[in-house]
Formats: sequence, C-alpha cells, structure tokens
Amino acid sequence: MNRVSSTGRWVGVLAAAALLWMSGASHAAGRERLSLDAGWLFQRGDVTAPPVKGHGSSYHQAKAGGAVGAGAPDFDDSGWRRLDLPHDWAIENPLDRNENASQGYRARGIGWYRRYVQLPASDRGRHIELQFDGIATHSTVWVNGSVVNRNWSGYNGRSIDITPFLRYGEDVNSIAVRVDAEAQEGWWYEGAGIYRHTWLVKRDTLHIATDGVHANPVQRQGRWVLPVEVQVDNTGEAAREAVLDVIVTGPDGQPVAQRRQPVRVAALDSATARLELSIARPQLWSLQSPQLYRVQTVLRSAGSGPTAELDRSELNTGLRSIRFDAERGFFLNGQPVKLQGVCIHQDHAGVGVAVPASIWEFRLRRLKEMGVNAIRFAHNAVAPEVMDLTDRLGLLVMNENRNFNPSPDYMAQLEWLVRRDRNRPSVILWSLFNEEPLQATEQGREMARRMAAVVKRLDPTRPVTAGMHDGLFGERNAAQVVDVVGINYQVWAYDRFHRENPGRPLTSSEDTSAYMTRGAWRSDRQAQVLSSEDEEPSSWGQTHREAWRHIAERPFMAGAFVWSGIDYHGEPTPFEWPSASTFFGAIDLAGFPKAAFYIRQAHWLKDRTVVKVLPHWNWRGREGQPVKVMVASNAPRVRLLLNGHVVGERPVDPIDMVSFDVPYAPGRLEAVALYGTRELGRDAVLTSGEPARLVLTPDRHELAGDGRDAVPVTVSAVDAEGRPVPTANLKVSFDVGGAGALIGVGNGDPNSHESSKAPERSLFNGLAQVILQGRRDAQGALTLRASAPGLQPAEAVLTVRSAPSVWMPVAEAVNQVNGWRHSPPQAERPDPNQVLAGNDMNSWGWGDPPLRQAAEPLPWRAYRANLKLRADRNDGQGRLVFREIIGQAEVWADGVKLGEKTSPDAAALSVPLPAGSGWRTLTVLVRSQPGQPSGITGRVLAEAGPR
Ligand code: GAL
Repeated sequence: MNRVSSTGRWVGVLAAAALLWMSGASHAAGRERLSLDAGWLFQRGDVTAPPVKGHGSSYHQAKAGGAVGAGAPDFDDSGWRRLDLPHDWAIENPLDRNENASQGYRARGIGWYRRYVQLPASDRGRHIELQFDGIATHSTVWVNGSVVNRNWSGYNGRSIDITPFLRYGEDVNSIAVRVDAEAQEGWWYEGAGIYRHTWLVKRDTLHIATDGVHANPVQRQGRWVLPVEVQVDNTGEAAREAVLDVIVTGPDGQPVAQRRQPVRVAALDSATARLELSIARPQLWSLQSPQLYRVQTVLRSAGSGPTAELDRSELNTGLRSIRFDAERGFFLNGQPVKLQGVCIHQDHAGVGVAVPASIWEFRLRRLKEMGVNAIRFAHNAVAPEVMDLTDRLGLLVMNENRNFNPSPDYMAQLEWLVRRDRNRPSVILWSLFNEEPLQATEQGREMARRMAAVVKRLDPTRPVTAGMHDGLFGERNAAQVVDVVGINYQVWAYDRFHRENPGRPLTSSEDTSAYMTRGAWRSDRQAQVLSSEDEEPSSWGQTHREAWRHIAERPFMAGAFVWSGIDYHGEPTPFEWPSASTFFGAIDLAGFPKAAFYIRQAHWLKDRTVVKVLPHWNWRGREGQPVKVMVASNAPRVRLLLNGHVVGERPVDPIDMVSFDVPYAPGRLEAVALYGTRELGRDAVLTSGEPARLVLTPDRHELAGDGRDAVPVTVSAVDAEGRPVPTANLKVSFDVGGAGALIGVGNGDPNSHESSKAPERSLFNGLAQVILQGRRDAQGALTLRASAPGLQPAEAVLTVRSAPSVWMPVAEAVNQVNGWRHSPPQAERPDPNQVLAGNDMNSWGWGDPPLRQAAEPLPWRAYRANLKLRADRNDGQGRLVFREIIGQAEVWADGVKLGEKTSPDAAALSVPLPAGSGWRTLTVLVRSQPGQPSGITGRVLAEAGPR
C-alpha cells in the first residue's frame, strides 16, 4: 500500500490504522457492531448549495450519487468542527429571550454532520447497516451522495441498509446528515443534533433482521414458555439455507433451554422462523429482584461439515405476568402493585438530551430511591440503553409513542417502537398518545383504533393505553378502543368513569403538576421562585399530597404518574423569561432531591423508615419568629426537638405528613420517628456559619475510559465546622486534568442563565453538579479541582479504567476525483481544450476510476472530470496523483498542461497542482499501445503538499 509515486513521494491521507485494516482478502464472518460515534465533522447552520441551473448540472444532480452541496461526497468540510457523538448543539447555546420558552429559550435551527468511513476489501459481500438511535428532529442522510434515509421524528431509531452504496478498500465513503431542529414535536426541550448513538453493523448477507427477534415469555397452564419468532433476511444473490439456534440462559448465566430450527430464505427476501422453548424452574422478574434471562439467537450456515456463524442477536427478557384489574388495579406476578409512577423527559443539566447511559442510571436510581416503581417516558421513546436500565433495575414502563397519526410514516414509528421493546419485562403498557385534542372525537377514536390494532398485531401480551385529558364521557372517543384508560389530571372523573364503565381498568397517566424550587421555602413570584412547602399546585393539578390521596384511596386506580419525576429544560410554567426550565420535578435538573422527593418517599417506601426534616435551619434574622417545619415520614408519630428540647410530638398523617410552627433559634432541629415509644429513625438539620470550604462528592470514584462513561460530582460548601451551607449561592470554578473532561455543569436553578458547558457554576441553594467523562482509550487519574474566592478549594481524584474499544476507526477526507467522462476512441490526438457540450449526455461515456478500456484499433481517448480543491489541500504545494494509468498520457487543467507520462506501461503519475478556487476542468489524454488495454486504471486523488 505504501506505494511510491513517480515523483518519489507518497503523501497518504488515509489513517494508518485503516491501512492495516484494509489488508486481508477473505471476508470476515459473523456480526460486528461498531460504534460510529467518534470523529464527526459538524457545522452549525444550513449549508445552502448554489442553485442548480443549466442542463448539465440539472442532469447530474438528478442521478444516484449526485447530491449537490454538503450531501456530496467531495464537499469541502475542512473548516468544520470535529466532535464525537452523542451531541446536542442546543445546550451549547446561550439563553435567548427571543427563542421559544417551551424549548428552554435556546436556539435550535439547522445543522450538518459529516463522517468518513473506510471499509476493508474483506467487507465486500457483507450486509452493512448504518444505525441511528435518534436525531433531533427531522433529518436526511446521504451516503456517497445518495439520500439513504429521511426521518420525521427526533425519537425513533432507524437501521439503513447502505450496502449497495458502499465502496471498499482504498476508497473512502462519506456519510452526511442534515438535521433540521427547527421542526418541533413537543412543548418541552428537545435538543438538536445527533444526540443518541450511531452504529455500523456488519453481518452476512443472510442475517437476522434488526429488531427481528420476538422472544417474550408467556405463562400457559402454569408453565413458562418462550415463543420465539426470528425474521431472517437474505440480501445475497441466491437462496440460502441455514440453521437457527436459540439458546436461553438464566439469571445465573447457565443455559436453561435450547432449540434449533432450519430456515431457507430466497434471495432478497425474508423468512420467519417460529419455535417454542419451555423454561423450567422459572426465576421471576420482579421489582425487588429483576431477574433477566438472555436469549441468544445464532444463525449458522447449513451443511454437514463445520458450520460458520453468520449472525447473532442477543437480548434480555424476563418472566413476569402482568394484569390490570378494573376493581383492584395492577398485578405483577399475581400480586397487587400500586403504580408509584413518574413522568420524565429525557434531558439533564449540562448535557441537554445527549445524556450518557451512566447519567441515566444515576437518574433512575435516584427515582428508585424516591420509591418510584414505574416510569412513563413522556411523551416519546427513549434511547435503547435507557430501556436496558429499566429492565435491569426493576422499573415498570409506560412506553409512549410520540406522534398520534396512523398514516404510514408515523405508523412506522409506532411499529419500530413495539418491535424494539416488546421483549422487555419492564414494559407493561403501550401508550398511543398524550392529551390529543382529537381524543374526544370520532376521528380520534378511529385513529386510536388503527394504532392499537398495529400494536396488538406485534405484541398481543401488553395492554394499550392513552393519556386522556378530556372526552372520557363522549359518545365516541379514543378511550373506548384502549385496554387501560389513562386519565391526565381530571381527578373528578376517576369515580364517575369507574362507576359508568364497570370492567374497564383505569390508571392516572399524569397527575400532580405542582411547582417547587429546590431549597427555596418561600414563594416569591416577583423573583420567580416557588416554595418547596408543597403548597403550589398548578391550576389543573394538585399538590403532591392531594394528588396521591386521590389515587391511594381508590383501589381501582392502578396508580399515579406524577408530573414530573425530574425537572427538564423548557416549559418554565407558570413563568416565562427569565425562567428557562421547569418547576414541576420532584428532583431538580441536576438530580438533587426537592422536598417532594421526601414526601413521596414517605408515601411510597414501605420497607424502611423515612424521616426528613424540611426545611433547612439557617434563618438568621428571624430569631423568635415561627418557622413552619414539615416532617416527611412514614412513621406513625414524630417528635421534634430544637437544641435538645421537645418542640412537640404528633401523629403523622400518612399522606399529609405532619407540620409544626417552631420559633426560630439557631442550632439543631431534630425529628425522631416513633412507633409507640420505639425510635425508628431520626433526621436533623443544623444551622451553619458562613461557607469556608468547598466539598466535591463524586457519585463513583471509578469510571471507564471509553468516551462514554460519565460521573456526576456534587459540589457543595461547608462552614468552618464542616456543616453544609444550604443557602450558599457562590460561584465555583473548575479545573479538570488527566484522563477525562468536563462535559457539563448545572445546579437545578430554573432561573440560572449560566453556561451548561463552561468550567464554572454557582452553587444554587448550596449545591451544583459537574459531569465528568473518561476519555476514549484513556486510563489513569482524572482530577477535578474546585475553587471559589475566599474558600478552601477542593479536589477529587477519580480513576479511569481502560475499556475495550468498540469504535469504528475514523477515516480522513480524501480529495478523490470521480465522475469522469471519456471520449470514444479516436485516431488523432484529441484537443485537450475541446468543449464537451453540457447537454450532450450520450456521445462520451461515464465512470469512476478504475476506467480500463480493452484493446482498441484507435489509440486515443480523452478523459474529463471536474475538480474543486478542499481548502486544506489548496496551498499550491499539492499534487494530483493518478495511482495508475496505462498508456502514454497528458494531464491538463483549464487549458494548462500539468504534466505527462511518457511510458506506455502501467504506472502512477503525479503532477503538481497549482492553487486555485472554484471548479476546474481536468482533461487527460491517453494513448494506448496497439493490442494493449489503456485508461485511468487507478484512483485519482488531489493530495496535500508537505506539512
Ligand atoms: C400536561 C402535559 C405535560 C406537561 C404538563 C405540565 O398537560 O401532558 O407534557 O406539559 O401538562 O403540567
């Protein structure tokens, strides 16, 4: 490969790793799933291509591979920013009051991404899929200048068979993505860009379709069976036979069932194999013990000799039964479980919607700590790794579709969702929509009926629901065609609907919508701050306590879905600017608990004592005045002590909690949870002095050096005696060194306008958060230092472990000259400056090198192409390199001769390439030897000069 050109110089632009990688002729077997997240080029704003005018350009742009502008393979992206995905460009933007409040006052707009990919020659003959897990919002994808996908939602993934468009070996493939985030699908912060993972999946042409395994265990006559359906696709040239092995392993990793089935698939066709396995000694998936079974489906070539593995799919499933009862609510494995649910969106402080899986795990664990057992991902599908977490952590999921629309594009989104998630034990409900004005109409009913039928066809085991906020009692409405009726807010309708519709299961699909600012204990509407005393319901919702009472007291209500579990950017209701994120969460944007978190804990946790004194005890200036104190507890009684003296002892209402008016005196305020005279637990708040020292508390001390794993670090301040200062609001600066980077900061203040990305943040009511990420292929120490004027600084040292790399190597752009036309053979030397009429598409031939012509009686041919130099190759030092020409040759550019090849033998040719702007016309005249082939038989590249 390290060929020396005729000038004795070889300036490669191909990554060395990729060169190594291209060797090896036989094609690799089995499946490879490589992350494509590394090494994208990004451009903010649209790239408008010059208008297409005239016959020639109109003709070219209409052809496969003929994209103009930034979708074209040879587009000059040399000035673009290099980054790794996932990426949300909206969260990088400052707040701007002219932007949409619902989207968090951040500009979204349009952006472009490009990436180069090189595939070894051994990949030729495999099936290659490009997968995007999610792009916000509308997007168009090109591969080598052909549109391969258009998508109209920011929440669905897609798998694109790009095999027919690909080139192998030395050629570099271009992927371009135009993202239109001017489009909106919600009234919350949606982010902008390729904000979920991307993959390149290589398989045999005979392969298991993406999301093509349906393996959802069911109980039949007391036995657990696993009916399995596997869709096998064949994109090869001939019909093929193979065998499928399905191997099920139990929670301990030991095989528990195995089955084999032959399949035959015609060329460019699909076949579905159906088999059934039975599972003895079932270990059930439950909330306390989410046992997972692994289903491996292996496709092997058929035949008597040793068989090769062609493809493999692995997924988790679980054995559990679910049932909604119209009188008694939800049952899991035959046991009643009240749904203690929350609705959440998908963004987090500092990172917007590009949330690492480990931050998701942090969020979900926090919710579990709060007593949450169910999540409604509002109002859209989440990334697949989030669903892996709900399976693994034991959380029930209402899985919601985004667009209420049964027309083909949108129905495909719903189908994609069900196919992706129908094996997951955590999923208990499919939700067709949220609060659709058409819900109460004949049209809405018909739309829902069609969508429900599609879900049922793909998954007959789970009920369908929809979040209704009106129309429940109309003559024709959407609730009539779902299995479990979901009610948003209309608490007055719970009893009436139940009474008038015996036999129809009911759940709250959304409730509460109460406001709280974390750490604030007095509402100040002027300052856009809302108290955490749980006394600020929205006009359509209730306080946390009222909302739960309505549900807790009604056994027929399957449960609650609190709006919302966690704060999110955007929808700053009840305010607008300068508030930019929401007040609804029980947990703030950075994951810090608000008072509602503890109230819900007291409502929901049964297996341990909850006792939490609210608020803090720093009320300087209010000495002697009464301060309202709430104790959130699930104990029957609470005793409150101030500086060791009993303030009072009272029974706790299990829903309303217990409150005391305490004349303020600095010191220690302590609550003791009691059962009779027995102490169950206690909690205290201490009056602190001024902040003296910063404290950094990482959520973990170790992380993987894989460019993905991220750790939230809590930043707080303590006084000289080490007491936390819950009222500190000072600015902290960060300095990160070693094997990782800071990827975002936050503090949970809905009114903060500080940057999400800068290495500084103010504490908000005592707390801030820094998110650190281990660098790809790195290991060693990762150090975070925090400092603030007048305070003792803090340092945290984390260990970054080396992690296996699953990254697709990054290829660099090449300035490859393609799109050649060639004259018919002729007797005389052609004029290099002859005009080829722009409307003559037929007298000259077409092609990309290698262009090898068989021996012909007439010796001469002219070849012509257009070339525009990339800015990073246009320094006047570059060369035009023909990897091989057979025959004598002259090379001309815009009427100037650049060089020639005098020998007729096959050889490379390199000519100097002067700098120049715009498109240039290249002409190559080739003269063959009698009886010999000729042509531009190797690639043509514009290469940079020495750097
Ligand atoms: C609901 C809606 C949610 C959120 C909430 C705020 O009507 O479904 O997405 O906007 O109100 O209270």
